[in-house]
Amino acid sequence: ARITLRQLLDHAAEHGYGVPAFNINNMEQGIAILEAADAVDAPVILQASRGARSYAGDIMLARMIDALTEMYPAIPICMHQDHGNNEATCLSAIQHGFTSVMMDGSLLQDAKTPADYDYNVAITRRVVDAAHWVGASVEGELGVLGSLEHGGGEQEDGHGAEGELSRDQLLTDPGQAVDFVAATRVDALAIAMGTSHGAYKFSRRPDGDILAMNVIEEIHSRLPNVHLVMHGSSSVPQALQDLFNASGGRMPQTWGVPVEEIVRGIRHGVRKVNIDTDCRLAMTAQFRKVAVGDASEFDPRKFLKPAMDAMRALCRERFEAFGTAGNA
Ligand code: G3H
Ligand code: 13P
Ligand code: NA
Ligand code: ZN
Repeated sequence: ARITLRQLLDHAAEHGYGVPAFNINNMEQGIAILEAADAVDAPVILQASRGARSYAGDIMLARMIDALTEMYPAIPICMHQDHGNNEATCLSAIQHGFTSVMMDGSLLQDAKTPADYDYNVAITRRVVDAAHWVGASVEGELGVLGSLEHGGGEQEDGHGAEGELSRDQLLTDPGQAVDFVAATRVDALAIAMGTSHGAYKFSRRPDGDILAMNVIEEIHSRLPNVHLVMHGSSSVPQALQDLFNASGGRMPQTWGVPVEEIVRGIRHGVRKVNIDTDCRLAMTAQFRKVAVGDASEFDPRKFLKPAMDAMRALCRERFEAFGTAGNA
């Protein structure tokens, strides 16, 4: 059944668990996530970026969500727009059956230039007003996502703000968070505390200097009833890096967000945990393995099946670690 983000995260807060929000672009990812959820009785957040919407097409995505909802009637499914850049992106998502949207007003519409606070409040508030008229939920973002280690630089995958950013911009200010939630009435708040998108988050196992979990604790103590969202939450497991590299891949050694840090966040109000990179890596490591294992193979299903198996296993691990399992 379809559910809004607000409904799902209210339940998660009441029962003290977190929900991974997995990005989807195609049928295989959708099936892998739902198979994992079905195996452990977990509610699901599927999210599509603007890139996913143009890759698959809005009609195909909408029909895929219809199909997954029909195939797994017992699993609550929230369909969410990831990183909406303006009103049009958010409202057209709702028209296509999304029950939730992120209005990311931390950046201007180009999704690169950091925006000022007043711009963020105004555009987020407009989207909240419109979305709430039709019963959809809204996630806002305060603070610019980006690596504390690299001054915000995310050159590796081309996502996020451009140029050098200060520590101030890269860490959500707790006092401003209180004001932002009151001014916008968002259903969930994404915060910045040192994570970035993509595989290259940290050049060492992160400690409190580069992964500022204390910011989450501080915001949660001031806003105990607000659902917090962690972006850039892939863990980039060593085993997946090793498998990728053992099959001819060239991924420089990197560190993501340890699962136990996310679990700590969940104890302090984090309810939605965005994960894309880990699923991509789980799938493409299998593509490499199959290609290297049998250079004559050309049936796409022989690549996609093991890729789905690997993604299903990864999703299941996250449902179990975050306490989502058993809450469908
Ligand atoms: O925002 C980052 C997500 O990982 C989506 O990535 O825009 O390449 O689909 P994408
Ligand atoms: P990762 O790149 O760490 O998977 O983060 C995804 C994300 O935050 C999508 O909004
Ligand atoms: Na999002
Ligand atoms: Zn994100």
